[in-house]
Amino acid sequence: MCGIIGYSGPLEAGKLLLNGLAGLEYRGYDSAGIAYFDGQSKIRVVKKVGKVAALRECAAKLGDVSHCGIGHTRWATHGGVTQENAHPHRFGRITLIHNGIIENYHQLTVEYGLEGRLVSQTDTEVAAGVLDAIYSQCGGDPMAALKAFEARLKGSYGFCILFEDHPGEIYALRNVSPLVAAYTPSGALIASDLTALISYTREYFVVPEHHIVRLTPYKVRLYDMDGNKVAPEMMEVSWNMDAAMKNGFPHFMLKEIHEQPEALKNTILPRLAKGLPDFTDDGIPDRIFADCGRVHIIACGTAMHAGMVARALMEPLLRIPVAVSIASEFRYEQPLVDAQTLVIVISQSGETIDTLAAMRLAQGLGSPALAVVNVKGSTIARESDYVLYTHAGPEIAVASTKAYSVQLAALYMICCRMGMVRGKLDQGGAKAFMGDLLDAVPAMEAMIQKKDQVRNLVTHLINAPDAFFIGRGLDYAFSLEGALKLKEISYIHSEAYAAGELKHGTIALISDRVPVIAIATQDKIFAKTVSNVREVRARGAFVILLAKESARVEEDIADIQIRIPDLADQFTVFPIAAVLQLIAYYASVGKDLDVDQPRNLAKSVTVE
Ligand code: M6R
Repeated sequence: MCGIIGYSGPLEAGKLLLNGLAGLEYRGYDSAGIAYFDGQSKIRVVKKVGKVAALRECAAKLGDVSHCGIGHTRWATHGGVTQENAHPHRFGRITLIHNGIIENYHQLTVEYGLEGRLVSQTDTEVAAGVLDAIYSQCGGDPMAALKAFEARLKGSYGFCILFEDHPGEIYALRNVSPLVAAYTPSGALIASDLTALISYTREYFVVPEHHIVRLTPYKVRLYDMDGNKVAPEMMEVSWNMDAAMKNGFPHFMLKEIHEQPEALKNTILPRLAKGLPDFTDDGIPDRIFADCGRVHIIACGTAMHAGMVARALMEPLLRIPVAVSIASEFRYEQPLVDAQTLVIVISQSGETIDTLAAMRLAQGLGSPALAVVNVKGSTIARESDYVLYTHAGPEIAVASTKAYSVQLAALYMICCRMGMVRGKLDQGGAKAFMGDLLDAVPAMEAMIQKKDQVRNLVTHLINAPDAFFIGRGLDYAFSLEGALKLKEISYIHSEAYAAGELKHGTIALISDRVPVIAIATQDKIFAKTVSNVREVRARGAFVILLAKESARVEEDIADIQIRIPDLADQFTVFPIAAVLQLIAYYASVGKDLDVDQPRNLAKSVTVE
């Protein structure tokens, strides 16, 4: 989604802003722009549809030298992908960039007489117009203007603002949409996420909601809305620059697939005490596992698919109801959660707006919220009652891979701890469970090493208009993620189906043009899935079967078979996930698509 960077200091701002925007490209965007004070302290705006590289060329031609400016990558929401709609927006003495959505923009347009005076279709330009009017009413006092401005806004926003008559200064304001800031030896910096800052500093702070930040070449100051100075809560980046580089891999996605075994170990091992899961250092009390009568998991996209796996794992083991909701649905369906419901919220970014809103709703209904989050200090992490951080490091590719597997690891550990606390697993059982989880790590690694096997099979996929992923039980939960991965980066229409359900309608779509990826790793229902494989094969489908090494089945049951190491049934998701990710990856590469930044998608979805 949109990216923000702002800088004031001794370095050349234009270059720094453009490099920062390049670091934010992974978030997904369709246009980019910068604004800066030029050598005469006049504000110059440069923007362009398309990639940051095009903006760089354009800016270079101007040859300006600046020491203070703001930059933005836009992911269109209000108004199409045009140069006019790209940020920064300028109105009167105000130039600003914005992440989020101003919901009452229409009312503000009318109230502030902006109709006919705007050049774009964006809510952001309306915000600039409103702030300009308020700034004049406040006698050119930025702090007073920002306070009055914020009182008029409804919606989500992270703003960085240049006031024409305050050269060298950047003001920022936030509600919901994240901003991080730092004062570094190279100057003052602000950004929508850490990847834009890490080349300059390891220390930063998350801008609290409803606060103002003022950046000058010498300082970053944080104020509450009454203008009182507030000491920021400093944090340290827990990963190094290498983690956000491709390091010889052709794409971030492939690198992140390879990083999974390490990320899993980083997430699991520090929480093992004598071979058992222990969340003491995370501050998560056993009470929340003992007291609940049910579990409700809430998330979006890949994170929701991790939740689906957790449901299929937890319910049979814990013998309590476990529900999974898509966060954007949960918000509007009068959910039945209460103080006896442990709500588990899953989010890589910790900023997904639907997940955040759903969590707030559940908390309002009395449920304790345990968040499984990858980004330290993110809004969901801060607002949840308990947080279990995953340690995947930064995930740059839009398609989630390592974040998914560490979410699974965290959920498996929660399940194990709950099983212990609720008397469903004795010490020996819990140790065996954790042993099985650890065994899944080399099994996943083994499948990543066999990537050429997958690379060779995608020739059967890349020209297909549609593909199906089928499985039963846990295998069905895995297939949901397989289908999402394939469609989001290869643009092949793909669906996951419970294998036994196909014949109730969907099998009508199976033909010799439709490949079927059948996942059959659950011993108890293996034969049943194999019957479904026969059914689709009989209708001409090209079948790729994923099964355990030891599974006995005729050679010609499928066109291609990929065998994963033998693991206990509940743990096969890890090697299977690697295979499914690699299928999607090589399909995208085979179609010569933008693997890391697929069309229309954004990394962190901070709008509804
Ligand atoms: O940051 P989150 O985990 O909350 O993001 C949720 C989804 O947007 C995300 O998992 C998305 O589906 C994946 N990037 C797809 O690969």
